[in-house]
Amino acid sequence: MSIRRLPEHLVNRIAAGEVVERPASALKELVENAIDAGATRIAVSLAEGGIGRIEVADDGRGMSADEVALALERHATSKLPGDSIDEVATLGFRGEALPSIASVARLTIESRVRGADGWARVIDNGRLEREGPAALPPGTRVTVADLFAKVPARRKFLRTPRGEYAACVDVVKRLAMARPDIAFTLEHDGRRVLSLAAGEDRPARVAALTTSELAANSVAVDYARGNARLGGVAGLPTFNRGVADHQYLFVNGRPVRDRLLIGAVRGAYQDLLARDRHPVLALFLDLPTDEVDVNVHPAKTEVRFRDPGGIRGLIVGGLRHALDEAGYRSAQRPSAAALGNWQTSPSPQGGEGWGEGARPLQYGLGGQRHSGYAGTPSPYPTPHRGEGTVRDRHTDFAPQARAEAAVETVPQAASFPLGVARGQVAATYIVAEAEDGLVIVDQHAAHERLVLERMRRAMADGGVARQALLLPEVVELDEPACDRLEARLAELAELGLELERFGPCAVLVRATPALLGAGDAKGLVADLADELAAFDSTLSLKERLDQVCATMACHGSVRAGRLLSVAEMNALLREMEVTPHSGQCNHGRPTWVKLAHSDIEKLFGRK
Ligand SMILES: Nc1ncnc2c1ncn2[C@@H]1O[C@H](COP(=O)(O)OP(=O)(O)OP(=O)(O)O)[C@@H](O)[C@H]1O
Ligand SMILES: [Mg+2]
Repeated sequence: MSIRRLPEHLVNRIAAGEVVERPASALKELVENAIDAGATRIAVSLAEGGIGRIEVADDGRGMSADEVALALERHATSKLPGDSIDEVATLGFRGEALPSIASVARLTIESRVRGADGWARVIDNGRLEREGPAALPPGTRVTVADLFAKVPARRKFLRTPRGEYAACVDVVKRLAMARPDIAFTLEHDGRRVLSLAAGEDRPARVAALTTSELAANSVAVDYARGNARLGGVAGLPTFNRGVADHQYLFVNGRPVRDRLLIGAVRGAYQDLLARDRHPVLALFLDLPTDEVDVNVHPAKTEVRFRDPGGIRGLIVGGLRHALDEAGYRSAQRPSAAALGNWQTSPSPQGGEGWGEGARPLQYGLGGQRHSGYAGTPSPYPTPHRGEGTVRDRHTDFAPQARAEAAVETVPQAASFPLGVARGQVAATYIVAEAEDGLVIVDQHAAHERLVLERMRRAMADGGVARQALLLPEVVELDEPACDRLEARLAELAELGLELERFGPCAVLVRATPALLGAGDAKGLVADLADELAAFDSTLSLKERLDQVCATMACHGSVRAGRLLSVAEMNALLREMEVTPHSGQCNHGRPTWVKLAHSDIEKLFGRK
């Protein structure tokens, strides 16, 4: 198919805008061109995160000397042979990418059609510098050097080479995931960082580009509705991550970041996952080209569907179906009538806790250090008389109720909003008797919240105490993730987390925040690395303390399933009563619910 200049009426219909914003966007265009050229092998080589040099070599069909010249003209493309922009089957279609890149960098195209001689053309910031014969194997090699070197206004918006490199890796990963039939290699500053053989099946390619753990923690998706089909792999809800970066979405082989699709994924996982946790998945949506408009965004990463409702239904239905098949159904909710009788947390606002008298207890907060529930000793010593400000109001309180001795009435139950612990259900919920009803507390969610609040106080009081690990733990992560952590070593140390770079793809955990106890250091570091990717690099971690603390608290807290002593349960209830925002967990769910006596009576038909 030969390259032609697009007629005016088509040019005017092309979504205008900035094609090249950063090295990763130029790289994306070049790899897309190689894929469109029918390549079976694509070799990418970068220097300085792509700012210094981007090189993409393919073994595709190549271009003749005339075509090389035409390819560099605006609106010249071989990909819209007809007059319709509505049926695009290639990744490119506008004839914009090469001239756009050539206008802001030094661009060299060398190309050779099989059986003919090669030809090269060098354009320096829009000016033809040189052209002539070139020696290369059949295919095309495009080199972009010194992007924005002569456009300082744009260059200053580039991130560090590391930041740009991370974006480039993401681009290659997404395109490579879409095409397991093509072999890909990626080199950065002379080092091979990715090597993918052609002919892998889709799940193998997805696993190679995400994590091998995904295979054991995912379900296959294969669902069709009408003439649209959804395939891929969907991570189990429990295999979730702190950011949505591990979601790979494709429409007709094109990587997209489409709001409709992201929303549909969220909808499918809605009651399986906390709001701030995200599934890991790779979804491939294939539908007739006239059902989707790819011409809505200058970077071609968004699409518009002719039937958005149908597509949403297909995705939610396809994911639900796959997850249900695996036996991971969403939790059964009690009937609306019963639910309506449950009073949920009053969600204390603005740090007010429980209103008057709601001052922190002296234990469990502030100065004292605790090792957290995950270790011993318990951070909730049995409260005793004369300690703490709130307990001054209840001087004769001794909440020693035991589950076994629940027959005995404990009059003091009246004194506490969250009541006195009577026992534990499923090693997960604390059942307490309050003056006016029955309280059930989600111990994990509640404790997570308390740890977060303690972290905040420790930070405000001048730093978080560290606890060295007996054996430093090695955490393997991808290179950009390690880079992000390395850039924050000092700040993380202030938060009590002592890390050290350990080779290109690992970090060493030397110490964790003491108040987290012997938590899950590996999970914590992996989640933090994810979290950092979403942070603006100009913000300090202190400015994002909420998120960092939430992540840390999550990994240091009592998981559901730990047996608590009655004293520990009561201590937790008392600390909740004096801790702001303890009525909701870090994910926005209530940490406790209450069934009033009158509601219990209703449940038994007494009223
Ligand atoms: N690697 C390549 N191999 C063969 N031909 C290529 C290659 N790269 C570009 N071309 C040719 O050059 C033309 C112009 O490329 P360019 O990327 O500028 O536009 P496009 O791919 O047609 O559309 P878009 O702007 O949407 O990417 C292409 O249509 C294609 O014919
Ligand atoms: Mg292109």
